[in-house]
Amino acid sequence: MSNLFARSAFLLLAISIALISCEKEVEPFAVGSDSQETLSGDSDFKLSGSCPPGFELTEDGNCKLRSIYQQYNSLENAGVGGLKTALPDYRDGFTPQQIDLGRYLFFDPILSGDGTVSCATCHQPEKGFADGLATSVGVGGQEVSRGAPSLWNVAFLKLFFWDGRATTLEEQMQGPLFAENEMATTPEKLISTLNGSEQYRSMFKQAFPNSDEKIELDEIYLALTAFEASLISLNSRYDQYAHGYHGALNEKEIEGMNIFRSFVARCAECHTPPLFTNQQLAVLGTPEPDGKALDAGAEIPYNDPTLRGAFKIPSLRNVAKTAPYMHSGKFKTLRETVEFYTKGRGHAVPEGENLYLHWHIWEPELTDAELDRLVDFLHTLTDESFMPKRPDRLPSGL
Ligand code: HEC
Ligand code: HEC
Repeated sequence: MSNLFARSAFLLLAISIALISCEKEVEPFAVGSDSQETLSGDSDFKLSGSCPPGFELTEDGNCKLRSIYQQYNSLENAGVGGLKTALPDYRDGFTPQQIDLGRYLFFDPILSGDGTVSCATCHQPEKGFADGLATSVGVGGQEVSRGAPSLWNVAFLKLFFWDGRATTLEEQMQGPLFAENEMATTPEKLISTLNGSEQYRSMFKQAFPNSDEKIELDEIYLALTAFEASLISLNSRYDQYAHGYHGALNEKEIEGMNIFRSFVARCAECHTPPLFTNQQLAVLGTPEPDGKALDAGAEIPYNDPTLRGAFKIPSLRNVAKTAPYMHSGKFKTLRETVEFYTKGRGHAVPEGENLYLHWHIWEPELTDAELDRLVDFLHTLTDESFMPKRPDRLPSGL
């Protein structure tokens, strides 16, 4: 295909995205919500009435996801690692007010038992919604046993946590909220604190106009889910390439992509486009930090010895932002992470452990140059264009 043709095809796509956005998003999400914070009667926090970028407000008042990937619904060209593969099922359809309320809740440490830790403490927007630590730190400086994953594109996931022990966002968040070493609150305390805030009572009324006066747990879960599901990252340079604009990637990156998709490296068998995860659990035998015992991973929640040391295959979107890597945070750089795959099947499995390593984990014998190209490619998966805004101030005043 000629370069010119590719460019004009891309231009058309770009124009159609631009049209979707102009039509419906009169007020940009982030700006709109904060600029209104000073108005309104009973509360000075007025929730945004417009959808985040990438979403379209439907007639019934809900925000629906709009992505070029929605055009790819046929199986044609959708084999393993195919670039034009359709998106998996996802969560959307929340109101703009619910999403904006979730944004405030996400950043507000009032959700924790002692008012010091928010979701954003461990899922920082600037760090790919992870925290830059090998393993996270909760209330009172207590350590959590694993690293915080990115939250970009969680709307598409079927399993949550490294060991896949939760199946919905609502179920997942009850983990950190009520864990003593994370946010250390209780359902009773959470409800009573938020109901004690005039600002929050008014904001919940805006987000749930048909509900009674009292803030309920389910509303808290729903609003946080609505916000998390708005964190969409599908517009990286890789995506532009996938949609037909070949100039979006340079030669080294394309070489890296080809290695990534090759039957030698086999990365795309597990990290399958477009999310760069096939959402399964896999045993790789990645190392723990020195002195730490093997993490049994999915063996525990699934009560299945064949899943000993199995972890959820993470999406690689925005992975350049979320160092250090793996459930343990053992690898500091992408180069070190990628090198793991070529050091020999089972090379880091502790003696005496007999793990059921995944059959795609083998001896690809990638060269140093090939590893570099893989890293080049992973950097093309960065897209933070729909980054939500941190609230300038919080309803709790904290
Ligand atoms: C103390 C740090 C900390 C806090 C606070 C925290 N998280 Fe997490 N989060 C983590 C860690 C660590 C994991 C992975 C734990 C595991 O897999 O066992 C995680 C996992 C997740 C996941 C699963 C992602 C995936 O791909 O499986 C979601 C979603 C999430 N957190 C959302 C939230 C929300 C919403 C809040 C606030 C209610 C929150 N987190 C508060 C550290 C934290
Ligand atoms: C058998 C499935 C499988 C294959 C093949 C595979 N991965 Fe992974 N990948 C995983 C799993 C599972 C993890 C998490 C492991 C852990 O935490 O111990 C992971 C983690 C990663 C991470 C770290 C992500 C993060 O957020 O911490 C990167 C980067 C990565 N893989 C890149 C690659 C590359 C490049 C290849 C090809 C050379 C590859 N993977 C092949 C399953 C796979």
